[in-house]
Amino acid sequence: MTDTLDPLFQPLKAGALNLRNRIVMAPLTRSRADHKTLAPRQINADYYGQRASAGMIIAEATQIMPEGQGYAWTPGIYSDEQIAGWKLVTDAVHAKGGTIVLQLWHVGRISHRDLQPGGKLPVAPSAVKPEGKAFTETGFKDLETPRALELDEIPGIVAQYGQASKNAIAAGFDGVEVHGANGYLLDQFLRDKTNLRTDAYGGSIPNRARFLLEATQAAVDAIGKERVGIRLSPVSPANDCADSNPEPLFTYVTEKLSEMGLAFLHVIEGETRGSRAPEGAFDLSVLRKAFKGVYIGNNGYDPKLAAARVANGEVDAVAFGRPFIANPDLVERIRDGAPLAQPDEATFYGGDAKGYVDYPTYREADAKVA
Ligand SMILES: Cc1cc2nc3c(=O)[nH]c(=O)nc-3n(C[C@H](O)[C@H](O)[C@H](O)COP(=O)(O)O)c2cc1C
Repeated sequence: MTDTLDPLFQPLKAGALNLRNRIVMAPLTRSRADHKTLAPRQINADYYGQRASAGMIIAEATQIMPEGQGYAWTPGIYSDEQIAGWKLVTDAVHAKGGTIVLQLWHVGRISHRDLQPGGKLPVAPSAVKPEGKAFTETGFKDLETPRALELDEIPGIVAQYGQASKNAIAAGFDGVEVHGANGYLLDQFLRDKTNLRTDAYGGSIPNRARFLLEATQAAVDAIGKERVGIRLSPVSPANDCADSNPEPLFTYVTEKLSEMGLAFLHVIEGETRGSRAPEGAFDLSVLRKAFKGVYIGNNGYDPKLAAARVANGEVDAVAFGRPFIANPDLVERIRDGAPLAQPDEATFYGGDAKGYVDYPTYREADAKVA
């Protein structure tokens, strides 16, 4: 290992979570849960076990309730079968000394009636149709105009964030990450392109932030603040979500999250899977300053950039997404200066072992060549 990468190999404590290095696995939807029960299976345990040397794994976005699903074959955390399935995963990671938290997900309007219980319309803060397609069991379909949630439906969803957190702990997770990013339900409430409400959950910044803060508080009340983190994507246009003035909005949200004493704040810097500095983006360092706990950066990092930003205190740790798909031993490759393999996008979502658990470690790849 070169000295310049050394900062990535310092251990880190985030609330009750112990990271043995600063290389975090970002949440990655792979659509490979059991097709009927949406429970994780042995193959999912094998996949996460292969990646257990990460400082922390943030397991893929997982719906907290049936209505929270927006893509075919994504796992849930609301049934006993799903809890038992996730236990296979957490056991595999813990057997190798790893740390793993679960990303709690409600997609809101980024869904389709084919994926909803009873074939009903997806729900959202307001009836605003997103641009884009839904990935259903029978292929891609146009996203639809969602139904605006009634005021009296909101407490039930908030409570489900608490129940899902308890279920995650029952499944052996070390904690949870509330998914507040990428244009899904909580982000739809935050931003004014998608939230046109005129009640206590719309309008002013505190009103638009209310749902996300209540959901996060429900997770905290259920399992303790030292086991709860959150992910935000303040300047990402993912899933057709946007805000006319994101800096004061996300500064307010971050200050409130900091007051809650969360284990970590995880920020997608720039456009998810795109530019780290999109046009019109504000300087996210204000969020780093506003949050007192552990700060994890993500998006388009390579090991050198990650180490440099950890070294100068811009972030405490870095989450890698795509690099973990093709490099189960990403930590060892970075440590040993081994080249990184490129992932096959055709096998990102759905399917089985191919492109999922068959990427070799660099030592295995070397052995084959020799
Ligand atoms: C196949 C795939 C699935 C993803 N699934 C999720 C997800 O479930 N939850 C989430 O917050 N982000 C998800 N993302 C975004 C990644 O976590 C990450 O933010 C993005 O890939 C940028 O990081 P990278 O440049 O290191 O890949 C996904 C990205 C990819 C490529």
